[in-house]
Amino acid sequence: MASPCITISLLFLILLTVIISTTCNFTVDLIHRDSINSPLHNPQSTPRALLRAAVERSLSRSRYFSRATLQSNIHSNVIPNTFEYLMSFYIGTPAKNILAIVDTGSDLIWLQCKPCYSCYKQRLPLFDPALSTTYKSVSCESDSCSALPSHDCGSTSQCRYEYSYGDQSYVVGYLATESLGFDSGNSSRLEEVRKVLFGCTHESNGTFDAAGAGLVGLGGGQLSLVAQLGDAIGHKFSYCLPPIDNNSSNGRLKFGSQAVNTDPNAVSTSIITGTPDTFFFLNLESIRVGNETEAIAVKPAQVGSHGGNIIIDSGTTLTFIDDESLQSLISRLTNSVKMPQVSDPDGLFTLCFEDSDGVESAQSKLPDITFHFSGADVVLKPSNMFVKIDEKILCLGLLSSEGMDSEIGIFGNIAQQNFNIAYDLDAKTLTLAPADCTKV
Ligand SMILES: *[C@@H]1O[C@H](CO)[C@@H](O)[C@H](O)[C@H]1NC(C)=O
Ligand SMILES: *[C@@H]1O[C@H](CO)[C@@H](O)[C@H](O)[C@H]1NC(C)=O
Ligand SMILES: *[C@@H]1O[C@H](CO)[C@@H](O)[C@H](O)[C@H]1NC(C)=O
Ligand SMILES: *[C@@H]1O[C@H](CO)[C@@H](O)[C@H](O)[C@H]1NC(C)=O
Ligand SMILES: *[C@@H]1O[C@H](CO)[C@@H](O)[C@H](O)[C@H]1NC(C)=O
Ligand SMILES: *[C@@H]1O[C@H](CO)[C@@H](O)[C@H](O)[C@H]1NC(C)=O
Repeated sequence: MASPCITISLLFLILLTVIISTTCNFTVDLIHRDSINSPLHNPQSTPRALLRAAVERSLSRSRYFSRATLQSNIHSNVIPNTFEYLMSFYIGTPAKNILAIVDTGSDLIWLQCKPCYSCYKQRLPLFDPALSTTYKSVSCESDSCSALPSHDCGSTSQCRYEYSYGDQSYVVGYLATESLGFDSGNSSRLEEVRKVLFGCTHESNGTFDAAGAGLVGLGGGQLSLVAQLGDAIGHKFSYCLPPIDNNSSNGRLKFGSQAVNTDPNAVSTSIITGTPDTFFFLNLESIRVGNETEAIAVKPAQVGSHGGNIIIDSGTTLTFIDDESLQSLISRLTNSVKMPQVSDPDGLFTLCFEDSDGVESAQSKLPDITFHFSGADVVLKPSNMFVKIDEKILCLGLLSSEGMDSEIGIFGNIAQQNFNIAYDLDAKTLTLAPADCTKV
């Protein structure tokens, strides 16, 4: 288990101030991969091309979730290159800055380490454990090692992992502990957490992206950052994601006492722990269009998924629901929306509307859509449910979960935009409140 937070003054050689606190309390920026703050930002890409790429990533993530919920022993802990957000943190002593993928769909924290054989090219230098005084390898007989889905004993009894992915990508490395540091919001101080378990990858091959030097798992399993910080963050984290079409604004990810929703309009639903325990399942009961009184009943959870029928995931752009509910929703919108329908030039979406006065005008003619989770009515604005194809066309950004191996829904990140979303993993509740995420 990781130790609590230590606030380190970066001038500590002079001032010798180190504050040890039992509670960690820090905030990091979530950088959307396409934003101007991301090394992946491509000014030549059109919004339509970016959206098309995001749909492809959403589909491959949906396939991953449906496979993973069927098999108890998933060997793929991450899905290469389907991420949406990056965050910066520090590792080692002396601390090295790392830009890593943030993934609510996996647990293990990992990065590429020296020496690295046939490793994918990354822009940042590789982390060198030999140069860090706080790096410690973990024995293959430890409990932490058995928490890895795929592990064995390396030549020196170190805990070795090997993950392979559907597309022949793989990573091989050793589990170790290190000190991690996070910006505290005060540029002269760093929040440091000692003895965090992470994977030091020494061999890899595949479709990973050069911008990221590693990955931070924020899932529900015991190796994730949130689980490792555990008591020190009161088992609480939250995030607020600005609209992805705002290419200059970062999201905020908070840990500890600030990761709560005090808004009187906040609503709460239960977080359901399913299989695997990495994923945060919710139960979506019904969907309502505008102020219609009759809601569309959503297909209940399948046997074995502990009552949850939808995974909340910040790393999937679109939202997936069962086909029957989707068709009912489409037909109700078709009947109630007074705008000309057009077909999606890329053939990805079923329901698109055109407004010659532009997308803002189109949004004003679309109803809110309420997702009724057990105990919580989440009112989604047209900007949460419709995606912009061009200056005049908006399409319903929902896809069918049918055709995947198991029909698990995904509550994606466009739907979550402009909500403050707080996870309390102790109370097992998720609290949502509308917010302007460009301002928090
Ligand atoms: C957490 O940080 C916030 C903002 O920096 C501060 O207002 C709050 O008092 C802190 N709480 C604890 C318990 O340290
Ligand atoms: C950011 O978005 C604005 C508004 O959509 C657009 O005009 C601008 O060109 C974008 N900037 C970059 C660098 O992509
Ligand atoms: C930032 O940290 C420094 C050094 O620990 C401290 O003196 C200063 O008061 C802090 N500033 C804020 C705004 O908390
Ligand atoms: C790495 O992957 C590429 C393409 O996916 C493949 O051609 C190559 O043989 C792989 N290298 C190793 C060492 O497996
Ligand atoms: C984007 O976010 C910034 C704050 O980060 C805000 O000032 C700006 O108004 C936003 N732009 C749009 C188009 O909403
Ligand atoms: C629903 O809302 C619309 C527009 O706000 C209003 O015209 C209509 O009467 C409402 N219908 C019901 C059943 O409340």
